[in-house]
Amino acid sequence: MALFSALCFAVILSFCQGLAYAALPSRPPLDGLVENGNFEQAPAKSNLKKRQIIGKYSLPKWEISGIVEYVSGGPQPGGFYLAIPRGVHAVRLGNEASISQNLALKRGSIYALTFGATRTCAQDEVLRVSVPGQSSDLPLQTLYSSDGGDTYSLAWKAASDVVKVTFHNPGTQEDPTCGPLLDAIAIKEMLPLKYSKGNLVKNGGFEVGPHVFMNFSTGILLPPKQQDQISPLPGWIIESLKPVKYIDNKHFFVPKGLAAIEMVAGRESAIAQVIRTIPNKFYNLTFTIGDAKNICHGSMMVEAFAAKQTLKVPYVSQGKGGSKTASLRFQATSIRTRITFYSAYYHTKLHDFGHMCGPILDDVSVFPAY
Ligand SMILES: *[C@@H]1O[C@H](CO)[C@@H](O)[C@H](O)[C@H]1NC(C)=O
Ligand SMILES: *[C@@H]1O[C@H](CO)[C@@H](O)[C@H](O)[C@H]1NC(C)=O
Repeated sequence: MALFSALCFAVILSFCQGLAYAALPSRPPLDGLVENGNFEQAPAKSNLKKRQIIGKYSLPKWEISGIVEYVSGGPQPGGFYLAIPRGVHAVRLGNEASISQNLALKRGSIYALTFGATRTCAQDEVLRVSVPGQSSDLPLQTLYSSDGGDTYSLAWKAASDVVKVTFHNPGTQEDPTCGPLLDAIAIKEMLPLKYSKGNLVKNGGFEVGPHVFMNFSTGILLPPKQQDQISPLPGWIIESLKPVKYIDNKHFFVPKGLAAIEMVAGRESAIAQVIRTIPNKFYNLTFTIGDAKNICHGSMMVEAFAAKQTLKVPYVSQGKGGSKTASLRFQATSIRTRITFYSAYYHTKLHDFGHMCGPILDDVSVFPAY
């Protein structure tokens, strides 16, 4: 202990507190805001030049670089009104600016970050989220919620007990007042999935997913190209180009349990899982589709694929929350079978064409059929 303290003395204090924390075996899995993750702890007035934060360590709990602004919601100097979806304060990352924080984690465990990120100008903006050994560029050009409250989640495996997470704006816009706005950052440890008896689909009800902000949620966009092992949605693969949305039962209609998936990008985004099967055996794929009670209207169609079989399930949405169940009997052709779902059409909210939406998917199961 003495050696540990002495060592600690030599290093930055907060870093060591992190280490000491991580060494406690009984610590419950993380599931909440990171320290000052909603930016409600403000920099000292003396460290602000207008909105710009002056000094690398002036934003409590964070290290900053480049032009980082501390933004408060409400009427702004430029004459416009800035709404901050979660809480009152946010930070804006100027050209090539970043904020970072050391997180005390468990080496080898998988973590998902949930964060609210919004572009502030009409141009395309990119937010780069990195941890040692992994970096993801999120294009913020498509707005999935016209109220500006898009939330994203990304997962990675902790390579050490202290992991530095960095949010960076790699852009060099001509207008220096552009750049992504971050308003809330949370982290959740993704525990190994529990086996559910008989069902060959893992996490078929989407009950295990990223941290959901309790106060405000427009759903969480799960970007594609994350692996099914290291994912904010364990077990599932998000294919192709666009995200799917994770929705919770507090803010949306969910057919069963805590959460479901909303397919917000038509055919440009599919959600899939590879299950173990026995060649030539028959199986029954069952799933529920519906609408999230978010004024997403119209004739919807979910297409499901398993081995060589496909099923198109129509659903007419009134946008008021509803669901139906469908099933598909298929014959496996291999020891692995990919099951895939997507929305055949694109949808936007009634009277709000900037707001992408779509059918929801829940309660997916595959059982042997006889
Ligand atoms: C939720 O809102 C309450 C009251 O406005 C606030 O005290 C709390 O910090 C918020 N929680 C989060 C996670 O932002
Ligand atoms: C598949 O499962 C559903 C739901 O349990 C059931 O209604 C349907 O009859 C089953 N189909 C086959 C072919 O076994």
